[in-house]
Amino acid sequence: MSKFATLNFSMQNQTELLDENQQGEATMVEQLSDRLTGKKVYLESYGCQMNFSDSEIVASIMANAGFETTRNANDADVILLNTCAIRDNAEQRIRNRLKQFNAEKVQNPNKVIGILGCMAERLKSQLLEEEKLVDIVAGPDAYRDLPNLVLELESGQKAVNVLLSRDETYAEISPIRLDSNGVSAFISITRGCDNMCSFCVVPFTRGRERSRGPKSIVAEALDLFEKGYREVTLLGQNVDSYRWNISKKGEIVDSMDETVNFAQLLEKVALVNPDLRIRFSTSHPKDMGNDVLEIMSRYENICDYIHLPVQSGNSDVLHKMNRGYTRDWYLERINAIRKYIPECGISTDIITGFCGESEEQHQDTLSLMEAVKYDYAYMFFYSERPKTLAERKYTDDVSLEDKKRRLAEVIALQKVHSMESNKKAVGKTYRVLAEGYSKRSSEQLCGRNSQNVMCVFDKKDYKKGDYVNVFITDCTSGTLIGETVV
Ligand code: 5AD
Ligand code: SF4
Repeated sequence: MSKFATLNFSMQNQTELLDENQQGEATMVEQLSDRLTGKKVYLESYGCQMNFSDSEIVASIMANAGFETTRNANDADVILLNTCAIRDNAEQRIRNRLKQFNAEKVQNPNKVIGILGCMAERLKSQLLEEEKLVDIVAGPDAYRDLPNLVLELESGQKAVNVLLSRDETYAEISPIRLDSNGVSAFISITRGCDNMCSFCVVPFTRGRERSRGPKSIVAEALDLFEKGYREVTLLGQNVDSYRWNISKKGEIVDSMDETVNFAQLLEKVALVNPDLRIRFSTSHPKDMGNDVLEIMSRYENICDYIHLPVQSGNSDVLHKMNRGYTRDWYLERINAIRKYIPECGISTDIITGFCGESEEQHQDTLSLMEAVKYDYAYMFFYSERPKTLAERKYTDDVSLEDKKRRLAEVIALQKVHSMESNKKAVGKTYRVLAEGYSKRSSEQLCGRNSQNVMCVFDKKDYKKGDYVNVFITDCTSGTLIGETVV
């Protein structure tokens, strides 16, 4: 990351604090801003919530350098695609989009196309040099450098920065909320991942795990609340391993600073205001402790919802996946959730057809689903990713046909469970945070209950951002339908 670019976020309010050298750099930043002012940037995001959250950081960095954001790609001087590399089909979709933008570039050759995020990190300069699909390549830790990369193009230089950092958290950057409903927002609390699940490309694309300071997280939550937001989702690849000022071995790093683990961070954010709802994602079964469950049960405004990816219901497959837990351990964690938070909504991620998965092992996944009865699930068939442990160690030997058939079985079973779960909600009353109009009618509002299920109800005098008590009268497998009660 260039020092030059690290300054741009703070140039308005910190110039007076800089020493002589830095003053020089600040002037350069002002010049940079002059050269970029008025240019328009268009951002498109793919993949996980973290990518959408990152795009808001990118928007902020670009705005501080003088860019305006636009929702119309045709209007943009710079098009940035924030990409996902987790499965091959995600990458293919992005490639097609890049080809489309390149075709349009014939009419407007000065338009800059940049690729950000995991696919940028994975493919490095390949998309630039071999496939000639992009002008800029920036990995997840290089966003501060983006204005600089745009300017480098003008001098005919290649614009690539895929350096991964051990400490970049973009902590003090105030994200520009894109496509926001003004009610819910993401806050990143950790970046990167140290887990090395054998199927997963994320540790290679997002680098080492690091936590963001609690003060800046709490300040961001407070700022959002004051701006009218009523829900924040704390994001990290594995939120349970959040730790501030505590080494991996559990030692205190700086005796003058406070130490904060994830349970303590949750509590701090919950205390910002009782009317600010807190969600978080993603929890990891090997790390999710009872301390987190205890804090969740204690604070009304921490939502009763946990996303706890299981990936497989068979312990041998879990071992090969390097997940760090067994089927029994996972089921014990589910029991703990139900003990502390009886009404907790639980969702999961499942992969079918991982290397060597037998028919019996697949049946174990179905039987685990029967045992847990998830309220919701994200389900995928295994897609081998270059560089991962699984690619190096195991054979991707389940046929595509079997992977897809097993996936269809998992999806069919989940549909039954989601319907059962929603039917149980009929006749109950939930406190719902109104997020906006329902898709079907401007006479109806929609919003989620604490368990993260979408509810639809007549608008009456309510507006988005209101907490509304909704009595559930009917449901589909995806939505609860109800009427407001006082
Ligand atoms: N193939 C299929 N699914 C994957 N996931 C991660 N890597 C792969 C892969 N190689 C899924 C996991 C993870 C979710 C975000 O994506 O279920 O939890
Ligand atoms: Fe990937 Fe596992 Fe890290 Fe999740 S915890 S990002 S699945 S390596």
